[in-house]
Order: sequence, then C-alpha cells, then structure tokens
Amino acid sequence: MELAKLKLVFFFSLACLIPRLSANIAKFDDVWRRRAEEAMEATLQAYHPDPLSVTNDFNLIVHNSSEDKTSTRRGLFKTRISHRREGGPCKATNPIDRCWRCKEDWAKNRQRLAKCVKGFGCNTTGGEGGPIYVVTDCSDDNLVDPKPGTLRHAVLQNGPLWIIFANDMNIRLNQELIMTSDKTIDGRGADVHIAFGAGITIQYVKNVIIHGIHIHHIVPASGGTIRDSQDHIGLRTASDGDGISIFGSCNIWLDHLSMSQCQDGLIDAIQGSTAITISNCHFTKHNDVILLGASDAYSPDSLMQVTIAFNHFGQGLIQRMPRCRLGFFHVVNNDYTHWQMYAIGGSKNPTIISQGNRFIAPDDNKAKSVTNRNYASVDEWKHWLWRSEEDLFMNGAYFNTSGDINAKLNFPRRELIKAKSGTRANRLTRYAGALYCKIGEKC
Ligand SMILES: *[C@@H]1O[C@H](CO)[C@@H](O)[C@H](O)[C@H]1NC(C)=O
Ligand SMILES: *[C@@H]1O[C@H](CO)[C@@H](O)[C@H](O)[C@H]1NC(C)=O
Ligand SMILES: *[C@@H]1O[C@H](CO)[C@@H](O)[C@H](O)[C@H]1NC(C)=O
Repeated sequence: MELAKLKLVFFFSLACLIPRLSANIAKFDDVWRRRAEEAMEATLQAYHPDPLSVTNDFNLIVHNSSEDKTSTRRGLFKTRISHRREGGPCKATNPIDRCWRCKEDWAKNRQRLAKCVKGFGCNTTGGEGGPIYVVTDCSDDNLVDPKPGTLRHAVLQNGPLWIIFANDMNIRLNQELIMTSDKTIDGRGADVHIAFGAGITIQYVKNVIIHGIHIHHIVPASGGTIRDSQDHIGLRTASDGDGISIFGSCNIWLDHLSMSQCQDGLIDAIQGSTAITISNCHFTKHNDVILLGASDAYSPDSLMQVTIAFNHFGQGLIQRMPRCRLGFFHVVNNDYTHWQMYAIGGSKNPTIISQGNRFIAPDDNKAKSVTNRNYASVDEWKHWLWRSEEDLFMNGAYFNTSGDINAKLNFPRRELIKAKSGTRANRLTRYAGALYCKIGEKC
C-alpha cells in the first residue's frame, strides 16, 4: 500500500505540471500556490488504496442498522410524504439519519452529527471541536470585510467552526461564498435558503460539512475582490453559477440538502477532489445535476472517490446523476424517479459501482438506459468497470454494465458485499432534502 502511494505521489507531482483550470482565481499568487500544493497533498492522504473495503463497509452498516427486525412494516413503500415531521415515533430510515435524528437533544449536541457520515467522506469532521457560530444577519454586502453575524464572516474564520442560524433566512450571495477548512454549515432548526445569487465554493480546502439547507436559483456572479480567509484577499473572475463547487478539496460531506434550478451544475467536484459523501439530498428541476471530474485530461481525478447514497433524484431532472470521470464512485441506495436523458454517465474509464438503487425510466423509449458513455468506442469502454447489483429497474429502465472487477488495476480478488436491495431505496431516501427540525424535539 505504501509503495503504491509513493508511486502516486511521483506520478501526480508530474501531473501537476499540466495546466490547471483557471479556478476563478484571477491572480494565482503565492497564497493560492501554497493552498493548491497543500490540497494535492491532502488529496493523496485522503485517497483510500482499497476502495472496495469502503463500499463493503458501507453496505454492512446499512444491513446492520436495518430497521426490518424491530419496526412494524406499516406504511412501508407509501408514496413520499412531505419532509415535515409527521409526529409520532421518529422515522429515520437509514443509518446516517438513525445516528442523530431520533434524539430529542440533537440541538444541544449538534456536533454529534459529525460522527454520522459514512462512505468515502467518513473521516469528515467539519467544525467538530470548534465553537458554535450563530448567523444572525442574512446580508452579504461587504465582500472584503464581511460584517460579523453574516454567513460570509463565519466561513472565513480560522480554525474549526460549527455554523448555525438564529432563525429562518434567505441569503442572496453577492459573489461566491469561499469556504475555509474545518467548517460545518448546519441549517437544522431553521429554514435556510441560499438562492438568487452566487453559490458556495469549496476550493483547495479540506473538511467541510454542509447540512440541512436549501440551495437554488444560483446564478453566475461577476467576480472581483473577495476575501477568501482572515489573512488574504484575492481577485476572482466570474463564477459559473454552480450550487456547490468543490475544487481540489477533500473530506467533504453534503447531507440533507434540497437543491434545484442553478444556472450551471447543482454540485461539481473537480480537480483532484476526493473523500466525498453526498447523502440524503433531494434534487429537482435541473439539467446537469452532479459532475464528478471536469476534464478527461486531468489525471489526478483518478484519485477521486465519492459515495452517493440515500439521495432522491426527483422531478424535472435531465442528466448527470452523476456524470463521472476517472475515479471510483459508489452509487448506492438512491431513488431515481425522474430523468429525461440518462441517469449515470461518464467518460475516461471511471469505476462505477451501482448498488441497491431504484431506477424508474421515463416513458420516452429513447431514454430507458440508466447509463451513458461519452468519447469512447465500445472496444474502449467495454473495459470500464460499471457494475450494477441489487438495483431495481422499473418502466423499462436498464443498465448496460461493462468491465471485469478482477481485471481492474489493484483490486484484490474478492467478493463485493451486497447492498441493501433497490426495493428499499424508496424507503431509505424517504426523508431526503432539508428537514424541518424543531429544537427540543426528535427531528
Ligand atoms: C455489523 O454487526 C456485527 C454484529 O453485530 C458487528 O460485528 C460488525 O462489526 C458490524 N459491522 C459494521 C460495519 O457495523
Ligand atoms: C479514515 O481514517 C482512518 C484513520 O486514519 C483510516 O484508517 C481510514 O482508511 C479512513 N477512511 C477512509 C474512507 O478514508
Ligand atoms: C450494451 O453494451 C454492449 C457492449 O458490452 C453493446 O454492444 C451494446 O450496444 C450496448 N447496448 C446498449 C443498448 O447500449
């Protein structure tokens, strides 16, 4: 393992000579250069040499925490209910939620959430161990010296910080919100919308949790002079209009987000980002949903390892759920109820382990395929490892698999542990999206 890592370090220090995407950084000064170097080191550290052990662990956890044994089966497979609490017993339906939702004192122990992440992002701690910061002011008027009490002021602080909201809030960002390392944005207990302005940028940092907020109608912003840490101000070019842009960053957990209608992608993770879990999110009304890797030529993206779990891909979606390049992607126990073109796509030999999802194809006969491959002949892509197990296919949906798991580089010869079946995906994702939690009550 260690030798393998050393080889990677050598390989990617050469790869770093390949010009980077411009990254919206107008002036790549010494501060950014140092951040980019540290980020590549962090990516190498966070990369897991045995990804199958991570997918297997994930599936074991879901089996272990299965509620089948204890709960009554009343109400299973009902149509999706509103995200508001129904009253009565706590209804967490998957192991991430079961780790915190059914505890009345969640608001007193908010940082316990950091123990709940599973999958490739499982070592993400966000602002754990830091103080709580309460956002009281929804404005975003000063990009150079943000006012105390604003979200922008919060995310720029040095060191770990757990950011919460004093009340319901609509935040229109004037320019990208540039995150620093070791932060949690925790919307529980308030109805928080980041909308009608710029999106969130997670660039060359590590260890970020974003939980329980709505992000929608994000538009490009012009750029300009923006503070990006307590000690540095930089010049930015225009931002793209992504909901969340993860760029050269690792250990990221996005959970219980409701996202729709952004001008570019809802979530992009690119440029050597890794150790990411996207869970319990509800995506609607969007074309390019999730992009994992932006360039076939950027070889460090082969370090990308992402878990996509318990999400609901819902109404009004078109494609890229996700669209992958080069890396390793565990797409597990999601509910795909809507797509117009395809669900899962990719180019440049990504490994896609699709397990225990439900795929309901649209009525359009030309769009029954879950999968879509770009820029490669069959002769080429037949070697890409795209596997489907325990998936549930409805309305004519089908998944064109490819590759041989034992032939894939560095994979030890052994069995995949089965995921929880796709027949359970609807239930596992039932509370996807931002929740309405009341302080002092089970959520
Ligand atoms: C699953 O449960 C078994 C038995 O309770 C336990 O030994 C094992 O460690 C658990 N595995 C995981 C991944 O939680
Ligand atoms: C999380 O960190 C532990 C301890 O450093 C490490 O052994 C494990 O492989 C990491 N897990 C993942 C998924 O990166
Ligand atoms: C599925 O993949 C095979 C190669 O493995 C290819 O020949 C076939 O055309 C594909 N089918 C569809 C419907 O894409």
